[in-house]
Amino acid sequence: MIKAVIFDLDGVLVTTDELHFAAWKHLAEELGISGFTKTDNARQRGVSRMASLEVVLEKTDRKFSDEEKLTLAEKKNDMYVKSLESLDKSAVLDGVFDFIAYLRSSGIKTAVGSASKNTPLILEKTDLADKFDAVSCGLDTQKSKPDPEVFLIAAQKIGIAPSECVVIEDSDAGIEAAKAGGMYAVAVGEAENNSKADISVSSLGSLYRTIEMFGR
Ligand code: BG6
Ligand code: MG
Repeated sequence: MIKAVIFDLDGVLVTTDELHFAAWKHLAEELGISGFTKTDNARQRGVSRMASLEVVLEKTDRKFSDEEKLTLAEKKNDMYVKSLESLDKSAVLDGVFDFIAYLRSSGIKTAVGSASKNTPLILEKTDLADKFDAVSCGLDTQKSKPDPEVFLIAAQKIGIAPSECVVIEDSDAGIEAAKAGGMYAVAVGEAENNSKADISVSSLGSLYRTIEMFGR
């Protein structure tokens, strides 16, 4: 019985994953790393800001102290937040508003489960803020996906057992986190071929049928 759907943010609800990539690439170039690619960026998907920074730093022999790493992460975040200035609801991915409306009218709770500490800002700017029963994000957690913490906190906030939650994710770390938390995992977008997911869909459009399949 499915009682709640927990959405990842970047790459599932909104297109901001492209903006993350641009800011990390910019930081990499400032550090003299010229070959920071989409393949590198794929490993940053779903994981925390500091874990994402490590993916960049793997590409240089230079060594940084913890304090320097914090400064670098802050620098990337400043660039990223600047690029969010013009963000509006046109950044919301196709089918998202309709799918959330469908879930809510069916009595299914909705939540966000994202590593991003910018989640409240992004939800506000894209008119998504009032569309969820709860938000769990990097501001609530100690551990990064693939640890299930962010999804377990979301489930706790809406008062639904993990076994009655479906997570929708575009990252391998997120699929792993959902399964580790005892939830159903639906892979979309970049995670579409993840074999650990219970089901893969190409777009949110096919999810209406998926929710029915999980036995509402
Ligand atoms: C995730 C992204 O949603 O949030 C990661 O997929 C990103 O790439 C992470 O590093 C943390 O985001 P923020 O906004 O807190 O730096
Ligand atoms: Mg994502």
